[in-house]
Formats: sequence, C-alpha cells, structure tokens
Amino acid sequence: MIEKINRLKEEVASAVATTPEAVEELRIKYLSKKGAVSALMADFRNVPAESKKEIGQKINELKAFVTERINGFKEQLSAGCDDEAALIDLTRSSTPYPVGSRHPLSIVKDDIIRIFAGMGFTIAEGPEIEDDWHVFSSLNFPADHPARDMQDTFFISRTPVDVLLRTHTSSVQTRVMEKTQPPIRIVCPGRVYRNEAISARAHCFFHQVEGLYIDKNVSFADLKQVLLSFAKEMFGPDTKIRLRPSYFPFTEPSAEMDISCDLCGGKGCAFCKGTGWVEILGCGMVDPNVLKSCGIDPEVYSGYAFGMGVERITNLKYRVKDLRMFSENDVRFLAEFESAR
Ligand code: DAH
Repeated sequence: MIEKINRLKEEVASAVATTPEAVEELRIKYLSKKGAVSALMADFRNVPAESKKEIGQKINELKAFVTERINGFKEQLSAGCDDEAALIDLTRSSTPYPVGSRHPLSIVKDDIIRIFAGMGFTIAEGPEIEDDWHVFSSLNFPADHPARDMQDTFFISRTPVDVLLRTHTSSVQTRVMEKTQPPIRIVCPGRVYRNEAISARAHCFFHQVEGLYIDKNVSFADLKQVLLSFAKEMFGPDTKIRLRPSYFPFTEPSAEMDISCDLCGGKGCAFCKGTGWVEILGCGMVDPNVLKSCGIDPEVYSGYAFGMGVERITNLKYRVKDLRMFSENDVRFLAEFESAR
C-alpha cells in the first residue's frame, strides 16, 4: 500500500495541466469519488490495525499534496501564467524536428578551399556584377573574342562601359593584383553566369574556384605539384594527373588537367568515354600582359593560375547526372550528400 501511495505521489508530481480541462481531468482522476485517492480510502479498511496510523497519515498527506498541486495549476491559470517553463515536464523526451543539410556544392567548395588553405592559399572574393575590364580586357581577351558576344555573356548595360555578369572568377585575379603586390596566393570561389540554354549538362549559372599564385621564380613545376597534391587529396591518393596543352588568353603556356578515372581505375569505361581520363580544370602560367595590366612587373614576378568548376568536381565525386538538380531545392536530393561523406 505504501508503495502504491508513493507511486501516486510521483505521478501527480510529474503531471502538468495547462488548460482548465486538463486540471479538471486531474481532479477527477485523483480526487473524485471514483478517483485514485478515494480508492485508497476504500482499501484502508483492509489495512491491519497496527499499520492504520502510519498508512492513514500517508493517505492524508497524499490527498493534501494532490489538492495543493491542483490548486496550484488553477492559480497559475487564473493568473494567466504564461511561464511555460514552470509547467514544462523536463523529463519528457523531446520531439525531434528535421535539420537541414549542407548543399552538395557548398560541401565540395569547402573541401576545395580547405585543401588549398592547407597549402597556404587564402580566400579572395569579387563582385558578380562586373565590368569589361575585369572580366575580359585586363585578362588579355582580344576585342573580337567570342566570349564577349551577347550569345555567351549576360550584359547589363553597355554605356559608358560594358557592365555584365561575370562569366568566370578569373576577374577576381585582376581585382586582387590591382590592389596587392606579390607574393599573392589566393583561391577565389564564386558564382558565374553564361548565356546558355539550360539542360542536363549546361546551366546559365554555375560555380568556380579560381587559383592564383604570383611571386619571384614561380614555375610550371610548382603549378603541377600543387595540382597533383590537390587531386590526390580530393579524389584519393592513387589519383594520377595529366596536363594537355590548351589555350586561354590570360595564361601562356596554358593547359587542361585530367585526372585518372576513378570509376575504372584508368582502364577506360563509359564514364571516361573509354579514355581512362576525365577533365577537371584549366590552368597555366599567368601571361605577362595580364601582370602588366594589373601593375605587376613581369620582369620581376611570374605566377600560375588555375580555374575549376565546382559542379564538375561534384559530378565527378557524386555522379550527379543532371546539373539542374543543384538548383531545384529538392530536399530529398540535397539530404543525400552530407551522410554520403
Ligand atoms: N576562366 C576559365 C574558364 O572559365 C578557367 C581557367 C582556365 C582559369 C585557366 C584559369 C586558368 O585561371 O589559368 O573556363
């Protein structure tokens, strides 16, 4: 019986009533004629004479405790008590609510930044709305280069100078070099825009990370070593790289870098179109004309630059088949990546 009394006391101690209906329910459950306390009173008849004093006292205490508790709830309600904390049962398990996940492009962009930060690169950013000078002219694009075409670039206004959405993050190179003398060692993450029809393989906006290192005696070998370290850390220690000669107006010599296809281990498969290699970035030694445009003496300094697409790297890591998935905000798609790491 004592156990039962104690249990009831605990039950009442943890009960919460925040509405008049709930208070009334409590009263009925414990104090009404058919309530738990009355039931104890009824059982009291069967208690042996020698325990009657002790148990009678306990039942009275319980009754007083329940009455006090119920009156307490009534008072809180009539005083308009909005102190939720006083009414909350801290022992109840919490209700989990869904937590968001990081966007796959943010995960990969942060990985890229982390790897280059480990090699001494700092982050630089520039505006998405740019002018012709920073996106094209300072970077040695000739006046009739097709990238300046309306078909490729979103122009915002054309007078007094061309104002446009940047088509690559190479514009941040110029912004930093104009303001800072070497040594410069930066990565520039950001969004870029191109006038493309949207499809599974192309979008009118995407993301890039640009890299730039300018100092005395920087060589192509330095570039190659930094890119090899990056590839191994990003795609695994067995990753190989190869550089193919290419052309960009702002670098000379220029190259495109491939990594060994990690699906087939370089043997050749459908993903790498049978070549064993997949392209991941463009790079080269900064053209002396670009250094000059930005106020850096090419007789004293040299440097390398590289630029990679974040979507491209994400696709290589996670095999996303349709670029549009990245901007559709389908949480089922977005939630897959954080846990896949
Ligand atoms: N800006 C180039 C693009 O958007 C990428 C690139 C290539 C950046 C070579 C570079 C570079 O810095 O050296 O396609």
